[in-house]
Amino acid sequence: VHPRCGWYARAVFPTKRPRRLRRTPAIRALVRETTLTPTDLILPLFFHETLTEPRPISTMPGVAQLPVAEAAAQARLAKEHGIGGVILFGLPKEKDPIGAAAYDPNGPVPRAVKAMKDAVPELLVITDVCVDEYTDHGHCGVLKPDARGEMDVDNDATLEVLARAAVVHAQAGADVVAPSDMMDGRVGALRRALDAESLTSTAILSYAVKYASSFYGPFREAADCAPKFGDRAGYQMDPGNAREALREAALDEEEGADMLMVKPALTYLDILAKVREASPLPLGAYNVSGEFAMIKAASERGMIDERRAVLELLTSIRRAGADFILTYHALDAARWIG
Ligand code: PBG
Repeated sequence: VHPRCGWYARAVFPTKRPRRLRRTPAIRALVRETTLTPTDLILPLFFHETLTEPRPISTMPGVAQLPVAEAAAQARLAKEHGIGGVILFGLPKEKDPIGAAAYDPNGPVPRAVKAMKDAVPELLVITDVCVDEYTDHGHCGVLKPDARGEMDVDNDATLEVLARAAVVHAQAGADVVAPSDMMDGRVGALRRALDAESLTSTAILSYAVKYASSFYGPFREAADCAPKFGDRAGYQMDPGNAREALREAALDEEEGADMLMVKPALTYLDILAKVREASPLPLGAYNVSGEFAMIKAASERGMIDERRAVLELLTSIRRAGADFILTYHALDAARWIG
C-alpha cells in the first residue's frame, strides 16, 4: 500500500499472465484463432466398377471400396454430416497400358458422380483425375522408353488422357476436377479441354504440390494402384524441396488452377504455410492414407485417444494455412465437432 495515497503500488510478478485467457471454455472459445467446422472437410470415396458389396480395405480401418450402387447413400451420408464435399476415385474392371478406362463415360467415377448429384444436387462433388488406377503398370501416365531404353512416363502423351478424363467427369456433373498426377502442364491442358467443351464452370483443384511420399502406402491398396516397377520419384516432388513448392504453385496458378493443394499434410505443414503466403488461391491439404492409418493403429492399441488426436491434427493443418482438408476422418470428425 502506498504510504501517502494508500493505493496498491506493489508490483505483483508476473504482471503479464497469458493463462487468464485459458481459464474457461468460454474464454478459450472467444480467443481461439483457428476453427474447424464440418464444411472444411472433404471425404475421399473409392468406387469399384464391378463390386456388389463393400470391400473393406485392411490397411484403412473403416474405409472400403464401394459398389457404384452405394453412391446415392454415400451422398446422403455426406449431407447428413454437413461436410464440405466428397472426392471420388475409381477402380475399373479392366486396366491397360494407357489407362483408357479413365475416360470411359460409363466408368465408375462418372456413374457415381451422376448418382450422387441426382440424390443430393447441392453436394459438392470433386473427382480425382489421374490414370494410375486405370493403367496395368500402376504409373500415373503413359509409358515410353527414354533415350537409354528405360521406361519413363511420357508427360505430353499423358496430358491428353488426363484432359479426356476431366471432360468426362465434368460432363457427368462433377463440380471440381482435381488432377493428382504431377505431369507438367496438366492444369493448362485440362482448362483448355474443359473450355473447348464449354465446361467453363467446372473448377480445377490442382494437387499442385505433391511429394513422393511413403504415406500413400495404404491408398495404393485402396485404389489398387501400386506401381508394378520403379517408383513415382520421377514425377512427384522430392521431400527435401520447399522452394520448388512455390514454383509448382505459381505455375499452376498461371495455368488457370482455381484452387491449390499440398499433399501429404502432416509432414508438410511448413510447405502449407509457405504456399498460403505466396498464393491468394484457396488452399487444400490432403491428410493422406498413411497419416490416417497411423492414427487408427495407435488408437486401436490404446496408445492415443483417437478423437482428441484427430481434432488436434485437423486443427493443426488448418492453422498451418489450409482452407479445407481431404481426410478419411471427415465423417467422424464432423460428428465430433457437432
Ligand atoms: C494418385 C493419387 C494418390 C493419392 C491420391 N491420388 C496416390 C499416389 O500418388 O501414389 C494418395 C492418397 C492417399 O494416400 O490417401 N491417383
